[in-house]
Amino acid sequence: MVTVIEGTTLTPEGPQPLRLGIEGERFTDAPRGQADISFDDGYILPAALDIHVHFREPGNEQKETLRTGTRSAAFGGVALAVDMPNTQPPTSTVDAYEDKAQRIDQNAHIDVGVWAGVTPEGACFELGDQATGYKLYAGPTTGDLLMDDPDSWEDAVERVAPTGRPMAVHAEHPAMLHDAAESITDWEDPSSHLLSRPGLAEARVFESLAPIANDVDAHLHGAHVSHPASAKVLHKHGLTSEVTPHHVLLDSNDVERLGAFAKVNPPVRSPETRQALMQMLREGILMCVASDHAPHTRHEKGSGFQKAPSGMPGVETLFPLMLAKAFRDEIPIERVLEACCSAPADVMGLPAGRLDPGCWANLVHVPDEPVSIQGDALHSKCGWSPFDGFEGVFPSALMVRGSWVVERSRLVGNAGDGRFVGGPGWE
Ligand code: DOR
Ligand code: ZN
Repeated sequence: MVTVIEGTTLTPEGPQPLRLGIEGERFTDAPRGQADISFDDGYILPAALDIHVHFREPGNEQKETLRTGTRSAAFGGVALAVDMPNTQPPTSTVDAYEDKAQRIDQNAHIDVGVWAGVTPEGACFELGDQATGYKLYAGPTTGDLLMDDPDSWEDAVERVAPTGRPMAVHAEHPAMLHDAAESITDWEDPSSHLLSRPGLAEARVFESLAPIANDVDAHLHGAHVSHPASAKVLHKHGLTSEVTPHHVLLDSNDVERLGAFAKVNPPVRSPETRQALMQMLREGILMCVASDHAPHTRHEKGSGFQKAPSGMPGVETLFPLMLAKAFRDEIPIERVLEACCSAPADVMGLPAGRLDPGCWANLVHVPDEPVSIQGDALHSKCGWSPFDGFEGVFPSALMVRGSWVVERSRLVGNAGDGRFVGGPGWE
């Protein structure tokens, strides 16, 4: 049985009528005749994929859980998220990986993949092509997964190549961060964080790893790119990249305003850097947008600048913020749909992110006007957002693989409706 949905979609040429067929979990050609579901207002768009989130389970359930994180994602129009391995225990062994996959199958409202954490022993590589992807922490941040010896990075690139899976890299050269930290005298001053984590420490990691990745045919993916020099290196080597909404929308002025609530690794930088990153996103030099949803409780964030952990929530605001920018003509809608939907699907090698026959039937219905974001009305367990007062276009409906998860702005799906999405070897 084919279900037919009709309405209006957004294209580079403006709004256009749309008819979609859905059979089981996938889009198919729409047969002639009356539609089963008709949207008279707003727009039908592909749902987003957020390939960089920290849902915190297991081990840090006071910040977020798979249930609350995927619920928040659903209200933001995200059909699939890929979770980071810096949980407790870290997702760096086959056992920890299988445990997380099982938790996802039992608790998730949307589909969730998992980045396996690379450690010096490389236990995760036993997963081969079963892992959704791999994550290399070439820089210190929340959790215990730092690989601080640059020689070990090269080994990781060589070991990931035969798996065919992408390896996301958190790039902040440890030795360069160490040197930069020497000059800091007052760690309670919010500007200390940016001074201690310079952008060139990021570019340096990508400059050394990109040629090696090309040599051994490894798919390296630049996580949360925060400096134009890094974006250029990745682009030059044909490697994939993501930028976060906070790196294109927030800068050092927001750190003054929000204090530790805007403390994040890598840091948000100057207004000029922010604008340069936004321009590279417009041009497609930065390929994807991913949220780096990294919730911490208000209490943890309010415990003094130096002590506060780095990271901010964002899975629910990722797509709404970018759509609002498109509605205000600050970025072409086709770039937003690429960056939030089709490009991340391509990075992960998934049949998603497009309203095309054969793709998973993941879609959103959105209104035609943005609203003002209110952090405490969002659905993450942490209960706050750095984007309070920014405009967002929030979906009123979300379909994931042919089933409604959100309808009329209400959650209608159940925990466990989402499923774990691994690499091709998982099935
Ligand atoms: O600011 C950050 N927070 N950056 C990261 O890389 C990790 C994240 C977290 O897990 O809190
Ligand atoms: Zn992250």
